[in-house]
Amino acid sequence: MSKVTVVGAGNVGATCVNVLAFRQIADEVVMLDVKEGVAEGKALDMTQTATLLHFNTKITGCTNDYEKTADSDVVVITSGVPRKPGMTREELIDVNAGIIKGVVENVLRYSPNAILVIVSNPMDTMAYLTCKIAGLPRNKVIGMGGTLDTARFKCYLSKALNANPNEIEGLVIGAHGDTSMIPLVRYASYKCRPVTELLDKDTLDKIVSDTMLGGATITKMLGTSAWYAPGAAAAYLVEAIIHDEKKVIPCSIYLEGEYGQSDICLGVPVLIGKNGAEQILDYHLNAEEKELFKKSAESVRVTNAMLKDLGVI
Ligand code: LAC
Repeated sequence: MSKVTVVGAGNVGATCVNVLAFRQIADEVVMLDVKEGVAEGKALDMTQTATLLHFNTKITGCTNDYEKTADSDVVVITSGVPRKPGMTREELIDVNAGIIKGVVENVLRYSPNAILVIVSNPMDTMAYLTCKIAGLPRNKVIGMGGTLDTARFKCYLSKALNANPNEIEGLVIGAHGDTSMIPLVRYASYKCRPVTELLDKDTLDKIVSDTMLGGATITKMLGTSAWYAPGAAAAYLVEAIIHDEKKVIPCSIYLEGEYGQSDICLGVPVLIGKNGAEQILDYHLNAEEKELFKKSAESVRVTNAMLKDLGVI
């Protein structure tokens, strides 16, 4: 029996629960929110789709009742506020850091063995905060950003190539930030052929910039941040853990010297299986990519430093 909790029944959290249930990724999914009735209402609504979508995952909604989340195998944390048009993810730290700290403490009280998937923004810093306060081995704290950014990268590549996105390989490393993520064009391919042979430089540059602004573009259109792809990306990570898939997924992990960085959570390719982040893969970066990774780390360190000012670590 597998049990997954999703904390936060907002757009991202509820989408994640919906994907987990519809695809029967877990036997039981608990959705928890601070707003009275919201998680219960959405859970009931989703439960009523069971005969329409042919699934039998048990979905439970609750208001701040962490006891219901007890003994979860995986807990996805989506709590906090999303950004509004014109905001960076980093600007959310004041509000979200305190919320995430409280959530992590409550979650671990009832599920001390859970693997935590961090979705809340600024994601790399929220993953770092979780590592600092949770006292868990680093394989158990996984930040979701690169999973989503990679899906967006493949989406833009598939449009330019007029190709099936599922036949495209690619990965985005570095921070989950508008100016600090790194779509690795050199490693992207379509049916084993490097995209650098298939698309010209201007097209590839545009794909990189569209990927980096993937979240901001949708935020501008909707007036709030995206949820279908972020929710599905979190569920994709959960699936890799619950089903011990051993998939290589870019996600934000506490680094201890890998890629030249330590004491920071940053996006790198990680082998994901039943033990969470089972292995960090060492892709060879060229000088330019190394420089981008270093700059990305520097930008995350600036945001991480604010955690001390806020008194949460
Ligand atoms: C995005 C937010 C969820 O990239 O970070 O859409």
